[in-house]
Amino acid sequence: MAKKYLTWFKNYQKIQSGNFEKGNIEWFIGGKLNACFNCVDRHLPKKANQIALIYEQEEPDQTEKITYQEMKEKVCQTANLLKSLGVKKGDPVAIYMPTCPAAIYTMLACTRIGAIHNVVFGGFSANALRERLIDCKTRIIFTSNHSIRKGRRIFLKKMVDEAIKDLDFIDHVVVHKLTESEEDFHEEKDKWYEESIAKESKECLIEEMDSESPLFMLYTSGSTGQPKGIIHTTGGYLVYAGMTFDYIFDYRENDIHCCVANIGWITGHTYTVYGPLLLGATTVLYEAVPIYPTVERYWQSIDKLKITSFYTSPTAIRLLMTFSDQNVIKYDLSSLRVIGSVGEPINPEAWLWYYKLVGRERCTLVDTYWQTETGGVVLTPLPGVTPLKPGSTTLPFFGISPVILDPSTGNVLTENNVTGLLAISSSWPSIARTIYSNHKQYLNVYFNQYKGFYLTGDSAFRDSDGYYWVLGRIDDVITVSGHRIGSMEIESALVSHSHCVEAAVVGIPHEIRGQAICAFCVLKDDPKKEEQKKDLDSLRISLSNQVATQISRIAFPDQIVFVNALPKTRSGKIMRRILRSILIGKTSQQDFGDTSTLLDPSVIDELIEQVKLQK
Ligand code: WTA
Repeated sequence: MAKKYLTWFKNYQKIQSGNFEKGNIEWFIGGKLNACFNCVDRHLPKKANQIALIYEQEEPDQTEKITYQEMKEKVCQTANLLKSLGVKKGDPVAIYMPTCPAAIYTMLACTRIGAIHNVVFGGFSANALRERLIDCKTRIIFTSNHSIRKGRRIFLKKMVDEAIKDLDFIDHVVVHKLTESEEDFHEEKDKWYEESIAKESKECLIEEMDSESPLFMLYTSGSTGQPKGIIHTTGGYLVYAGMTFDYIFDYRENDIHCCVANIGWITGHTYTVYGPLLLGATTVLYEAVPIYPTVERYWQSIDKLKITSFYTSPTAIRLLMTFSDQNVIKYDLSSLRVIGSVGEPINPEAWLWYYKLVGRERCTLVDTYWQTETGGVVLTPLPGVTPLKPGSTTLPFFGISPVILDPSTGNVLTENNVTGLLAISSSWPSIARTIYSNHKQYLNVYFNQYKGFYLTGDSAFRDSDGYYWVLGRIDDVITVSGHRIGSMEIESALVSHSHCVEAAVVGIPHEIRGQAICAFCVLKDDPKKEEQKKDLDSLRISLSNQVATQISRIAFPDQIVFVNALPKTRSGKIMRRILRSILIGKTSQQDFGDTSTLLDPSVIDELIEQVKLQK
């Protein structure tokens, strides 16, 4: 497969080495290759004039098509710009841009010269961006003057300026002009992207990279407060990206693939950029939201562009289901062969709606389970092969050996009809190799808890046919609208507010977004004092804004409950499961499970009372 999907400058001598005990996984050892060459240059002899990127912007008439030849020229100019700014092999380069061609050119340009791209989701706040820049000490950042969401501009360049205030290790800010707008421009650091690349040559040499050279880093949330810089390496990641894209989306020549994920997430990396481009496909860069300007936006694009494979999230489906079926029925969706879902469990009702209304009971619906850390899909049906069951991610992809572990003993549950921790027992090419500058944390989070296994952080049920049903996270990670956010990240944003001394955040089921964020806050002053009551609503707004500023609007709490104390164990750990139970209306002692380790069991009554009062 490695030879089928990639062109190697030098053959690898060994396929795999290392193990989960040591966390020293390597694949295709000794091989040399280049990601950009594999995604761009090698297609040119046959496909120079084929469309590589279709840039679908918010307004339905804004579509731009870019050929492989045009892409190659822009990538080379960008790579030469990187070099002229002093970027070298192994240097990190931050990209804080919307999903647009210039962002793809920059990603590929980095890989051409062996630099490591670090795409930061454009919906993150200046503060969240700053944290990520500090962690990886990047000297250079690419941004856009703004992005556009539901017709409104979001001024990314302004956020960058705020993020890098007094960060003296940042030497350059390269600003891509999405559309005309007035920006503050700082001569010493800022450069316009379009003007700068225009001066550069359209040819640029390719660096030969080791199979195990880092390809990119991508920050993701975990159980701890700090996001983790997940590192993927070149050979293994690319083999797996190409192969999974080919099999799961049943790729055929001249297909038009559309993955609506933003490039700030792993789904955008693997199934908008690398998978499709490795196969020389046409990939749609989708910058539109599903309900702007109308709720027909997705179906209109499929009809207009004759999309053959379409990949979205359960949250988008659940949202679109709430509108009239006529919005879907009136479009010609006969070009579609495969429709996909990713990011969170898809409930059977949403699955059936998507399958019937969009797939017209004709397309395969691939419910794909994977993670930033897995690099590519690990559980999925294959079109034309796997009998489907609504709500199940079905079976493992080739080479993946999932197991279900008993959480208390760590034993592998070998039978069917079992529920437990979802883990994987041996390595596959695109497993993350480390956490940037914290290999110890990598070992602790994924491998040390149950020796010999990669722990996903999700629980799953395996049914009597051996099919997997992913149930959701068992750690303190919340998935809102398919976005992964750590409870502790939100908690630390809340306690940075001058009135909040302690906070606990949990996710509870939400009909459309999968989970809703609920925060319990302990205030400096007693919230029940009469004179304070009227101020509580404005305090809620101010706390929510604090979260939006520190992290992103996607982390905005849906509900904030003020309490006197949090349910903590004697060792100081917050028992979030008690908070979850109370929020979904549980009130009796049996509903809370074992509470013997609680420091003060009487807090439960107060919590129940406050949740009722403040609903
Ligand atoms: C969840 C996104 C159920 C899961 C690619 C996982 C899913 C987390 C599915 C990773 C699915 C993703 N069914 N749950 N098909 N796909 N998840 O890193 O909880 O942003 O651990 O990667 O999303 O989120 P991440």
